[in-house]
Amino acid sequence: MRGMALEKKPEDGFQADAEELMNNKSRELLARLAYAPSVCPALKGACTRLEADDTFTFDLHREALIQLPGIAKNPVQRILPVNAVEVEDKNRKKVKIAIVFSGGPAPGGHNVIAGLFDAAKEANPHSDILGFLMGPEGIIEGMYQPLSRELVDSHRNLGGFSMIRTGRTKVDTKEKIILSRKTCKELGIDALVIVGGDDSNTNAAFLAENFLEDGVQVIGVPKTIDGDIQVADASGQPLCGVSFGFHTAALAFSRDIANLCTDAASDVKYWHICKVMGRVASHLALEVALQTHPTLTLIGEELADYLDEERLAAAEKKGERDYTAYGMTLRHLSRLVCNAIVQRAAAGKNYGVLVIPEGLLEFINEIQALIIKLSTLIAEYNRTHDTDFHSDLPDLDKKMNFLRRLAREAEERACISVWNQRDHDFFSDIPDFFKEGLLMERDSHGNFQFSQVETDKIIVGLVKDYLKILKEKGIYKVGIDRKWYENTLLRGGLKPDTFTSALFRNKDAKEAPLLFKEHIISVKTLTLALEKAGLLQDGGVPPAILKVFRKSEPDFRMQPHFYGYDGRGSDPSPFDCDYTYNLGRTVFALISGGATGQMAVIRNLEKDVSQWEPMGIPLAALMHLEERKGKMMLVMEKKLVDVDSKAFRAFKAMGEIWLAAGPGEDPCRRPDPVWMTGEKDKPLTLRINQL
Ligand code: FBP
Repeated sequence: MRGMALEKKPEDGFQADAEELMNNKSRELLARLAYAPSVCPALKGACTRLEADDTFTFDLHREALIQLPGIAKNPVQRILPVNAVEVEDKNRKKVKIAIVFSGGPAPGGHNVIAGLFDAAKEANPHSDILGFLMGPEGIIEGMYQPLSRELVDSHRNLGGFSMIRTGRTKVDTKEKIILSRKTCKELGIDALVIVGGDDSNTNAAFLAENFLEDGVQVIGVPKTIDGDIQVADASGQPLCGVSFGFHTAALAFSRDIANLCTDAASDVKYWHICKVMGRVASHLALEVALQTHPTLTLIGEELADYLDEERLAAAEKKGERDYTAYGMTLRHLSRLVCNAIVQRAAAGKNYGVLVIPEGLLEFINEIQALIIKLSTLIAEYNRTHDTDFHSDLPDLDKKMNFLRRLAREAEERACISVWNQRDHDFFSDIPDFFKEGLLMERDSHGNFQFSQVETDKIIVGLVKDYLKILKEKGIYKVGIDRKWYENTLLRGGLKPDTFTSALFRNKDAKEAPLLFKEHIISVKTLTLALEKAGLLQDGGVPPAILKVFRKSEPDFRMQPHFYGYDGRGSDPSPFDCDYTYNLGRTVFALISGGATGQMAVIRNLEKDVSQWEPMGIPLAALMHLEERKGKMMLVMEKKLVDVDSKAFRAFKAMGEIWLAAGPGEDPCRRPDPVWMTGEKDKPLTLRINQL
């Protein structure tokens, strides 16, 4: 456990001194353990009350009403402070609360526990808090740990979920629900707190519904570094600006990526391809872009809206409508990236930093269609064979044979099928590692596991292929610094002015680096150009000219990076420390007020803590239908990047500037380090959206 002193060992030469130097008491750790999160006014006292607020309304999904009838009509609940003397006894009664982490870790989870623990103990020191171990599996299996003050104190303001650990088990079958109810009954649990993302809060909603009969309350907490739990009511009034953990993870990625920007601009030879976590939504990539100003950032949600105007116009001329012009294809995507690379190279910058969201491919039409088709086929296979697709067909060859057979059958029967010959041809054409990625087992919630797919490798492969073509066409060339050119020629005994017209296409654009003419793409074409201009010397191409030409030949060198698990394990920023501690106290306020089927949220996160408003919002109202494992299921709706939002528009407006395909240094931004003292930073996305 972090924060504990190392056991003293007997003196052993230098060993004792070395151990003292290596002790686990960094200044950072001590500052963190001592940090007291700020608490918003409504949660400062031990006692609170709930008040329904019908100014917030939701468009409840019909299916939510059917599947979650007991909690579907929950109102939004405000949490208000109460004078301790007015407090009813139930507010102070001894309770047993269990908490569980679910899904991927996110910085701040330990403070949710700390906030809940402190509030519960302040209300009644005899109340018990326990943690289910290893995620929802712990509820099903009855694995838990009582949480002592010592244990909680040693994890305050620290990252990870190591105190009770986490897991991704979905509580989705009757048996699992029965077992979970049994555990809670046997342990005498009054309330269960589920700290998780969209799928875990879906779990929370269904458990709340199923636990109604036993009187066990269930409260969800919005966690995920992906930042895709954001809630506004039907009229757009924001209720939850961002999930916890997003800010810290984005800052961790940003600091590393800012360092890469510095390295790239110093070494001037690599394109760094940075894949940033975020299974579907591109919020993390957008925040990283706002924090660091990389050369190019792709936002999946924007690509989904792509319209190929040229294609549309060409089809319209023929009186046709080309439906393939709607949405981005892999081909378009590689063109977009190559465009940026070519522009930078022309400015003499054959390097840069490209940020791509982990879930990018979900927004590429043809890939999304493949993912859905394959999920449907795998689910259908499992249903009809009553076995497991992946165990029956363990390697790619077997899977491909199965798909080939399906395509053939569809062709022979001339029937409409999920998998037809066109799908099969397209799928067969993509590299094997990507095929394997697309066929990979879905997680327990039926999500496609983007973190396991080498998205960067796919994009780089396409980009390299297209750059090769552009190089052969003489379009991809590195611009030559004019001073360097003059100097090189003069040192080689040549007069620069004599050669510029014959060699360069932009000799008169005084500010820009020199660009070789498009047709000069090899030593042979260079020789011909010089010959035509009467500048070829006896020995052939003068060495100085050859040197300049070699410098103009682009070599696309790239370094891939993945930013995910490391940032997810970071210690929380002061914003996330405060946010999560307040969430923990909010959870207790909801429990003591008798709520169930609610998610704890804090409104006004973009403002100072003194203006934060803790609330409970109905989980059922956040649900919609989504394809999972080939079936439509009721799950919590993820919020994707809104391309009309202020944050996105601000990012878009900076595109040309951050691309910096012109003279001057790249405009990288260094995000502030995480200080435990002083002014508290917040996600830029959140702040810009509230401007
Ligand atoms: P949650 O939605 O559970 O918070 O997890 C998000 C995430 O960190 C994604 O960004 C990533 O795609 C995924 O988890 C990785 O999952 P795993 O930890 O199972 O590899």
